[in-house]
Amino acid sequence: MKFKRTHTCGELTKAHTGKTVVLSGWVENYRDHGGVEFIDLNDRWGMTQIVFDPEISRKAHELAQHLRSQDVISIKGNVRPRPDGMANPNMATGEVEVYVTDFELLNKSKTPPFDVNHAENVNQEMRLKYRYLELRNPELRNNLIFRSKVTNSIRNFLVDNGFIEVETPVLTKATPEGARDYLVPSRVNSGKFYALPQSPQLFKQALMISGFDKYFQIAKCFRDEDLRADRQPEFTQVDLEMSFVDQEDVMAVVEKLFARLLKEFFNRELKLPLPRMTYDQAMLEYGKDAPDLRFGLKIVELSDVFNDSGFGVFANAVKDGGCVRAINLKNAASSLSRKDLDDMTPFVKVFRAKGVAWIKMNESGPQSPIVKFFKEGEVKALFEKTNAETGDVLIFVADKEPVVCQSLGALREFFGKKLGLIDENELNLSWVVDFPMFEKDQDGNPTPTHHPFTSPKPEDADRLDTDVFSVKSNAYDIVINGTEAGGGSIRIHDNAMQRKIFSILGIDEEQAKEKFGFLLDALQYGAPPHGGLALGLDRLIMLFLNTESIRDVIAFPKTQKATCLMTDAPGVVDDEQLEELSIDIRDNL
Ligand code: AMO
Ligand code: AMP
Repeated sequence: MKFKRTHTCGELTKAHTGKTVVLSGWVENYRDHGGVEFIDLNDRWGMTQIVFDPEISRKAHELAQHLRSQDVISIKGNVRPRPDGMANPNMATGEVEVYVTDFELLNKSKTPPFDVNHAENVNQEMRLKYRYLELRNPELRNNLIFRSKVTNSIRNFLVDNGFIEVETPVLTKATPEGARDYLVPSRVNSGKFYALPQSPQLFKQALMISGFDKYFQIAKCFRDEDLRADRQPEFTQVDLEMSFVDQEDVMAVVEKLFARLLKEFFNRELKLPLPRMTYDQAMLEYGKDAPDLRFGLKIVELSDVFNDSGFGVFANAVKDGGCVRAINLKNAASSLSRKDLDDMTPFVKVFRAKGVAWIKMNESGPQSPIVKFFKEGEVKALFEKTNAETGDVLIFVADKEPVVCQSLGALREFFGKKLGLIDENELNLSWVVDFPMFEKDQDGNPTPTHHPFTSPKPEDADRLDTDVFSVKSNAYDIVINGTEAGGGSIRIHDNAMQRKIFSILGIDEEQAKEKFGFLLDALQYGAPPHGGLALGLDRLIMLFLNTESIRDVIAFPKTQKATCLMTDAPGVVDDEQLEELSIDIRDNL
């Protein structure tokens, strides 16, 4: 390198006028204005306008003609204020430009496969294959810089509050968090496999038993599950655990952490304590356990109005043990077309709902395909319960409760967006508490709502033998704008209770010993009461930055099919390696 840089490309202002500087970076936006060449020089810190003027250096100007997008160069030059009216207020360095006296081409770039600064419409596969180029895009780069700052702030907060950072193994045994495990074959223990941790759950509990008292880790977790916009197969948790605490203590620490983050990064005061809602209320009024509270449109329970309805679909749903619920889309009559209403039916098909009924509250009276079936008392009670007024649209789903919750929950979010009820700048934080310990799996058997180490509410514990599905747990989730950002619980610290929960889950003594033997042992050597929580760091950053997907806040994310297009992982391996691992790949795959 002929010269070392003196400043970054994001740094120069009018105050540097007259200075000789050296900048290094990548060539962007090459343009010629009447024989004078302009480029923007891009580096991690920003962009600076560079001018090659033949009257200042004929040689540099001549060489500059050969520059192309993404060439990497170093320039030496003088800082000048831009001429009147030419300043760019959208650029930190927009008041100045640098007139080149000398420059060096550090490396030529091949023609990039897409324009780094305008890649929005380039297909995702191409962008992920050349992710190192896409990351030169300032927006994406700033996402990662923001992520680094937030992570650092979280770390500082936890250390300041007495937490100790401890790393836990990545080659480990299965930790059940409800997804499939990624397995790693062991060469030296032929036929045996490690599992990558779905979370550090059991290790952090072990650390509490060791007496560490307050632990945290910015931990990589691995889950082989179907991917969505807010799910990646490997993701990062801010994982924490505390001893001698109850639910309130853990929640208070997390609230304080969020108050600090909102102050530091958004200059907002977070009103504490955060609002809380029970799981039951969330499901009833919002149709999901992570309600978006940025807007209203609450779901209204109407089963008692329609249990003997003249509309058979409603009456039968209630008779069959299901329910009828509705949402009042306030003042939406004029903005929703007949097509909008008809489109609701295919929208809820994925939740196996049979249809969506509606009533449009027109000036001339209710318009609806179903209202003619209602008895008189029903209409009155319905309008009262839903607070229906002229200009509103009521939408209904009648079915088994989970189908109604999912359908109306999704419709609520859909219409919240469509009707413009969401303030995209809001960050709405709340807790959901009092989760059920168990849910029914496909066969109707109990499966943990959180994980099997979550403790039951003491007042409910005696129903573990008689009515498991009515037992609530000491679990809590933190929700931001309708997304679960984190979850935790007070754990079981008693061997007998842990064994009991395993047995309810159909894990017999022998399996329990094989899978969780060390935990059951450890619980007998002075396990303190303990609990904690894990935040999804990727999701948190996504929510803070209001990006569409967690991919936008992860440097090297995976595709929907869990592949990394840049490195081409997962890849095939040599026969020799397979041999060492005693693994045969079936030919028909
Ligand atoms: P849980 O399974 O709820 O709890 O995970 C905690 C948080 O991690 C985030 N998360 C994910 N983010 C991206 N991609 C994924 N595939 C993914 N899966 C989960 C979510 C979630 O709220 N051991 C417990 C925590 C505890 O009890 O302390 C656990 O892992 O934001
Ligand atoms: P049908 O009697 O099938 O013509 O349905 C009349 C209206 O009720 C249509 O708008 C359907 O979409 C709606 N509908 C049908 N089944 C249900 C259901 N389970 N819940 C709510 N609405 C329904």
